[in-house]
Amino acid sequence: VTLRLSADDYGVAAAERLDAAARAYVDGGAADEATLRANRAAWQRLVLWPRVLRPLADGHTRTALLGREIEHPILLAPVAYQRLAHPDGEAATALAAAAQGAGFVLSTQSSVALETVARLVRDEPGRGPLWFQLYLPHDRGFARELLARVSAAGFEALMLTVDAPVSGVRDRERRAGFVLPPGVSAVNLAGQPRRGPGPAGAFCQGLAAQAPTWADVEWLRAETALPLLLKGILRADDARLALAAGASGIVVSNHGGRTLDTAIATAEALPRVTAAVAGRVPVLVDGGIRRGTDVLKAIALGASAVLVGRPQVHALAAAGAQGVAHVIRLLRDELEMAMALGGCATLSDAGRWLLGGDAPG
Ligand code: GLV
Repeated sequence: VTLRLSADDYGVAAAERLDAAARAYVDGGAADEATLRANRAAWQRLVLWPRVLRPLADGHTRTALLGREIEHPILLAPVAYQRLAHPDGEAATALAAAAQGAGFVLSTQSSVALETVARLVRDEPGRGPLWFQLYLPHDRGFARELLARVSAAGFEALMLTVDAPVSGVRDRERRAGFVLPPGVSAVNLAGQPRRGPGPAGAFCQGLAAQAPTWADVEWLRAETALPLLLKGILRADDARLALAAGASGIVVSNHGGRTLDTAIATAEALPRVTAAVAGRVPVLVDGGIRRGTDVLKAIALGASAVLVGRPQVHALAAAGAQGVAHVIRLLRDELEMAMALGGCATLSDAGRWLLGGDAPG
């Protein structure tokens, strides 16, 4: 048995389990995959400047997110169609997250019903936040029904994806001939009214004309009492617009390099967004986070928490719920070691000094 000791070890294990088409869907990015690579490289390029001989006795990874205490700042990102990786799909990843006190964000395009997932975990003691990622359905009636189901099921916040008005140029996926296998589908969207085809030759087949705008964010804000996070923001000006629109949180994300290729790496975009937001709402970040040091760097740049996408799918493919629980634990252990070795007893100790800025007082 090969020991799996890191998120990347699960990537290797998953490559042996998933067929080539599923692998292309999970691991691929858009076009030349420049952003996919840049995300990881940007975290690695940031160098740590550890402080030594700091008091670490009462150290912990606890922090707060949308008014509740969480054990550690690692959440599972929304990832579509997880039954591609394992028959238990999102039921397994949600249970693993709950067992590890990690926040869980269910995708609109989950392959297990949102009610089933919520029922499995919502009463678990020690679970982290339970949120729902939203692709805003074009049909307002269907959108209202979906929102009602989401809050009735017990989801505690909505995370609206704003960086995918159309799909990216998914060359790797298309080369592999990826199609959803029978039995895997976006079950939450069954019964959604079909979008009419756009006029021939229209901008992005007319899809972009139906994409959400800031006006739809306001509609959503008025339609639901749940806190609303916007996922896919990379710029300070958009972050300010998000605050003005009443967002309760911002996720700095480029969709794991799956939408606009050559978009800026999230580690590079993060500091401008946290500066613009100035602590008014939590800023989360995803994209290329594979090590505890990456998590600590995100926190040092002002993030409240991070999300991991592909590692959870890799672990799910390799070892089901236990694999996912293990990869979360590995990341948390690495974070604790990075904190101790960097001179941080708590996450609030981490700051720009850790990345070469001026030392605190
Ligand atoms: C869906 O959001 C995807 O990136 O495949």
